[in-house]
Amino acid sequence: MTDRSGSGDEGNQLERLDKKHVFGTWSYQKQVQPTQVVGADGNRFETADGTEYLDVSGQLMCSNLGHSADRVADAIADQARETAYIAPGYTTEARARLGEKLAEVTPGSLSKTFFSTSGTEAVEAAIKIARMYTGKQKIVSRYRSYHGATYGSISVTGDPRRLEAEPGIPGTIKAPDPYAYGSTLEPMESLEYIDEMLMLEGDTVAAVLVEPVVGSNGILVPPAEYLPRLKEIAHDHGALLICDEVMSGFGRTGEWFGCDLFDVTPDIMTMAKGLTGAYAPLGGTIVTPEIADHFEEHMFCHGHTYAGHPVACAAGLAAVETYQEENLIEHAAEIGAYLGDRLEELSAAHPSVGEVRGVGLFRGIELTKRSDRREPFGVRSDKLSPETTVVDEVAARAGENGVYLANMINTLIIAPPLTITREDVDEAIDAIDDALEHADAAMEA
Ligand SMILES: Cc1ncc(COP(=O)(O)O)c(C=O)c1O
Repeated sequence: MTDRSGSGDEGNQLERLDKKHVFGTWSYQKQVQPTQVVGADGNRFETADGTEYLDVSGQLMCSNLGHSADRVADAIADQARETAYIAPGYTTEARARLGEKLAEVTPGSLSKTFFSTSGTEAVEAAIKIARMYTGKQKIVSRYRSYHGATYGSISVTGDPRRLEAEPGIPGTIKAPDPYAYGSTLEPMESLEYIDEMLMLEGDTVAAVLVEPVVGSNGILVPPAEYLPRLKEIAHDHGALLICDEVMSGFGRTGEWFGCDLFDVTPDIMTMAKGLTGAYAPLGGTIVTPEIADHFEEHMFCHGHTYAGHPVACAAGLAAVETYQEENLIEHAAEIGAYLGDRLEELSAAHPSVGEVRGVGLFRGIELTKRSDRREPFGVRSDKLSPETTVVDEVAARAGENGVYLANMINTLIIAPPLTITREDVDEAIDAIDDALEHADAAMEA
């Protein structure tokens, strides 16, 4: 990586400017400390003071291709020169080919995509499509979920970030989660509860919306029979199944999509993040032919200026081709299994590790204050508090050890670029091993 450490002073000045003039997201502004990044290469990035970090969480679990996907960067530059923007009523080669490509790599008959610019907008479109198609209004989603920041998508979100936005849009209902370690219900019991909820709602539910593998709310992998049965339950009650693959898609789980782990084709699937490997903002909402056909004679009453943005679609097409040609999905499954084994070693070595869980390169370490029972260091209300938790401190110590590690509530989130190597995994494990000493020392007697 190029040494740009000489830019430290300027970096500090830029950080001050940024703090003064730019909002930090989801945070008390007095606590925001923007750190200037001056370069990113492979699976690493570098800050203005010359520190290099191994990117163990792929930034916001989105940099699936790492930071040197030249093919994607070139596609962006070429498209920007050729046709940077054209209204959504026109098409471009990249948009048409990406639509075709997504029909190829997504499961079952999913075939027609609405392109937007984020996961939030992908979910927003899914909600509207489900409502328009079924003529029903309610959306059932789960408590331990994140689906986006706008009013519709935050209303179907279950995590504490929704609370500021409540009461939100009408017609959203929350269901329990498949979370054996932390819920009072067993995963399959929680599912049967959803069956009862849909029965009690009568024929008014447009869709059930879930992350097939829950991401930021703790990396929750349901039992094998969960998702197939959920689809059955939804359909029995005349509701659609929407799978939100914004975080779990594009190889994260060692399969193309989280729902591929369970051989389930949803009626609607949302995607973003890995769709371009985060090289450009792009969201997608793909539907089955039955749903697509409905809009032949009914208005598709949705759109954006940047729907199908040529540069973002060019990035998306190049990203999907990169996953395919570099066999990155297979690599994620293989290296993900190694990562899983190494995390089990950490679990055995540290009493503060309550549970490690996950699949592929989508893993979580949930902490506990007590070794005899689950006693979280971080609770849901901490997400809205200015205080730092022991979990934040563990992630910060990993940072001091040169490893960037995301965390949420009580779980450390490991979701590196799919390009990660065994040596990188070993380096990450060493850094986390040391950081967990902090949690061990903070445990209750
Ligand atoms: C499952 C899921 N859905 C939707 C979103 C929202 O995506 P974005 O932040 O791109 O708007 C996220 C973001 O993390 C997500 O994890």
